[in-house]
Amino acid sequence: MGGLKKPVIAGNWKMHKTISEARILAEEVVRKSPEVSTATLILIPPFTAIAEVKKVVAGSQLLVGAQNLFWEDQGPFTGEISPVQLKEAGCQVVIIGHSERRQHFGETDETVRKKVLAALRHDLIPVVCTGETLEQREKGQTLPVIKNQLEQSVFSMEADKFEKIILAYEPIWAIGTGRHATPEQAEEVQSFIRNLIAERYGKIVADYAIILYGGSVKPDNSFSLMKEKDVDGFLIGGASLEAESFVAIAREAIRAYEGKK
Ligand code: 13P
Repeated sequence: MGGLKKPVIAGNWKMHKTISEARILAEEVVRKSPEVSTATLILIPPFTAIAEVKKVVAGSQLLVGAQNLFWEDQGPFTGEISPVQLKEAGCQVVIIGHSERRQHFGETDETVRKKVLAALRHDLIPVVCTGETLEQREKGQTLPVIKNQLEQSVFSMEADKFEKIILAYEPIWAIGTGRHATPEQAEEVQSFIRNLIAERYGKIVADYAIILYGGSVKPDNSFSLMKEKDVDGFLIGGASLEAESFVAIAREAIRAYEGKK
């Protein structure tokens, strides 16, 4: 890894925050962000607040993302948002294939693949989520499930595309439950993912790949998770809704990262 990667700390606000609430939260994060300037911070508000958050972060190093997109640039797709629209609104990043979208909105590995290609066409950085259910974990299927998801969605892409993708391992049983993966559990899966990348694309691409962990990340567990070799940062839900806890996680991640460089 060579210390070239900065910790990536992304806050997925999910379906929380009105425009005015989003402005206040973004302003607080911007105010505190100089303390954690050696991390890459990404704010991912709901669609309605993207433009407002973008205004607030202008002039700072913070990036802004969206939680989903549709793969066409325009057309008769009522209720969908295109990569062109996200770009214009100021997004640099987009989450694709979050387990909540897979569970409630019929997202599949195939739609994930199409969305990733659409994002890349418009220079949006896709954050592609992968993760197993509790049942799959208990049956010992975690690694095959993750491998299959990645093969069906992103591993069919050429290296020049794959290199631009951020991956996020989010065990479904850890999302919003307060039950985070142990550092060993996260590392087992994330080192497995890095090895798959090395097999498919070679060691250099694997070393540079950014693999985030998500699922009940809090200030008090972020140091030990980030200490693991293959945890490059976090995708945070609940704890990203308060500036103090979001920035505290970034602070802990930087501290752990400094120790493993
Ligand atoms: P929580 O941090 O609330 O568990 O959510 C994780 C998540 O789904 C981030 O995308």
